[in-house]
Formats: sequence, C-alpha cells, structure tokens
Amino acid sequence: MTTVPMEFDPAQIEAKSPPEARMYNDDMAKEPMKSALENNPEIYFVPPQRGSEWGTWEFKPGSYYDTTTGSKHPYWKNKKLPSPTKDIDQLRSDLLKWGYCIIENAIATNQIEAMRKRVLEQAEGERQARIAQKTPSGQNINCCINKGRCFEGLIEQDPSIVQGGPLIEQLMTEALGPDWICTSLIAAISLKGGVPQALHQDQTDSAEALKPTLVNTLTAISDIDQNNGGTLLIPGSHDVLSRAMRERRPVGKLPPAINLEAPAGSITLTDGRILHGTGINHTDEPRIVMLNSMQTNWKRQQENWMLSVRPEVLERASQKLLQRMGFQATTGSQTNEGHGFGAQGLIGEQAGALRDFRLAADRGEYLRVGELGPNSSQQDLQAPFTLRKVVADARSGGASAPLGIGGNHEIGG
Ligand SMILES: [Fe+2]
Repeated sequence: MTTVPMEFDPAQIEAKSPPEARMYNDDMAKEPMKSALENNPEIYFVPPQRGSEWGTWEFKPGSYYDTTTGSKHPYWKNKKLPSPTKDIDQLRSDLLKWGYCIIENAIATNQIEAMRKRVLEQAEGERQARIAQKTPSGQNINCCINKGRCFEGLIEQDPSIVQGGPLIEQLMTEALGPDWICTSLIAAISLKGGVPQALHQDQTDSAEALKPTLVNTLTAISDIDQNNGGTLLIPGSHDVLSRAMRERRPVGKLPPAINLEAPAGSITLTDGRILHGTGINHTDEPRIVMLNSMQTNWKRQQENWMLSVRPEVLERASQKLLQRMGFQATTGSQTNEGHGFGAQGLIGEQAGALRDFRLAADRGEYLRVGELGPNSSQQDLQAPFTLRKVVADARSGGASAPLGIGGNHEIGG
C-alpha cells in the first residue's frame, strides 16, 4: 500500500492555510457592498413591522423606502434625473450618468394589456396550484418563457411585441458588447403589505469595471411611482460604487434613494451596478414589473434554461430566441461534449448550437460518449452518439447556419 504524502492531507492543508497565507487574500473581495452597507446601514436594515404597517406611507428624509420620485425629492428635484424619452442620445447619456434610463412607449398599449392579463391569470393559477413563489414584496412568476407566447417576444425584443425593441438592442450592444444573452424573465408583483427589498446590485462580478456586465430591463405593466412600489434606486450609484473599487477606497455616504416613476408601457434600463430594490405598494392594485435581464454571454444565467424550457417552446423557438436563452455555446462557455469549441455564441451558429442535445434528452434518446478504447466492440465504436449527429448536421448545415471560426472541436493546452 502506498502512503499519501502528508502535504495532501486535509488537516495539514488547513494548518498551512491561515488567512494571511492565502493568495489574493484581500478585503476588496467583499467590496463594494461591504463598505456601502457599513457606511449606509439604513439601506439594508428593514425594521420588523406587521404587513399592515407598511401601508402608512409618508415621506421621511433619510429613509430609503419611505421616499418619493426624483421630481418631488428635495435632494434630487433640480438635478435633471432621467424622465421617459424616445431620444436615443438622451437615453445613452442617462444610462451612463445615472445608471438608468426610461424608454417611453417601448411597448404599445394593447400589448401591455395582454401581458397584464396573462400575468394576473398566471399568478392566480400558481396560487391555486399551491406553487406560488411568494416574496417579501408579494409574488414572483419565474421562468415566464413557459407561461405565454407574449413572453417569448419580450425576451426576443420582437418589434411585434416590443415596438422599442430595435432601440433597446442597440443600447444593450453598446453596454454589453455583441452576442449578449438573457439571464431570466421574471414577473415581479408587489402587493399591499409587502416589505421593501434591501438595496442591492444585480451584477455581483466585475465591480470595478468601467462598464456593466448586466443590464436589466424593467417593463412597467402598470404606471409606477411612490404610491405603488416604484422601484427604489440611488441615481448614479453604479458609478459611485465602481469608482470606489477602482480607487481602492471604501464607499462613503450615499445620496438618498428615490422611487422610480415610469408610465405603463415604458421600459427602464438599469445598469447592473446600480443600487436598487423593490418599493412598497401602498395601493390595493398589484404593481407588476417584468424583469427581463440581459448579460454578457460568458456568465452563468439566473434561469437554468437548459433544463427549464418546455420542449414545445424549444421546438418553435427562433434562432434569435435560442441564442438569447444561451442555447449557443462559445469556446469558453456551455460547450456540450466538446460541441461549441470555435463558436462565438452567434445567432444560428451551428458550430455552437445546443438545442438538439436537449431535445434528444427529452425524447430519452440522448446517447453520450462514454468509456471507449482499443478493445471496445464495433457496436460500441459505431454507436449512434448524439454528438455524432449534431456535429454532422453542423458540418452539412444550411447557408443560414454559419460554422464558428475554426469550426472544429480542438482546443490548445
Ligand atoms: Fe435586483
């Protein structure tokens, strides 16, 4: 019997790994939220109250949740915060400076009505089925892709559902670079008696980068403001936090939070680094915001679309929708048994297309490559591996199906 060297013994490893000996051991790992919360404890601490007490709203200076819209807030009212517009140059400058911008009438009125009806029916159905996903603020509907055709169009920014889609896509590409994807689509319903959410950043990586790796889109299904739970946010905090990180100093005292004021049909884009949270709904009507968040294509997504998307949705999905849900591998992400090396995550790129693996699994026919060797039987060597078929289809793909650069399955070492 051979003896395992003592350097590999877990107790030895632990003894040799005090905090000061570790690589990259640095307080910056928990920043910028660590100092943001230490120096602004009120944005995190939500005092315990009964649900009914959250309904007694009055503006309180210094409170992050009993606040008001930018146009009414004493600190912000003269600072020209973003207001709804269709002007792309204004939207660019709002997103850069304040960390959010509001696209007016991005969805036409009839589409909004249809979406509101679908969300409310689904919410009721999930409650009756006893699978409702309750949140401290109300109720969320997750994985909306499976719950209505209109949501497929919302994710795709299809102009027949989202008339402002082309403008949104342009801004996304400028912020995230090409071939960005969707991380999840959630209907966030805020109800009377709900608790305000602690302020947080949606983007938890790359805090010191000059640009976001995630941009959320908040579709207002009803008018939102200080009365019904307009999203709480601190204008400009995306820049304050990432600047502190770059300059290696703590985040200091932050300016006050406001409630987002956005009319039904508008889509608000938020930089993933901005501090925000769900507001308090003081009205009897549900406040509905569709959270449809986009990210760079190298990050893990919030929704695990690979497992969750219904087969019929996958079958009918356009190449664009597939790419947006992450069903296109790149060399560095989501390769499947090696399929995807050399691919760039492009729409319709056969060299990285993953749908056929999932559909084969759904049929119970996904045959994975296992242990093989010189003594394997001819039957094993010639098995109808799913990889074989996907690669063959990719190589013989139609004109609309570009192979990735390289288009092979090799990787250097
Ligand atoms: Fe969030």
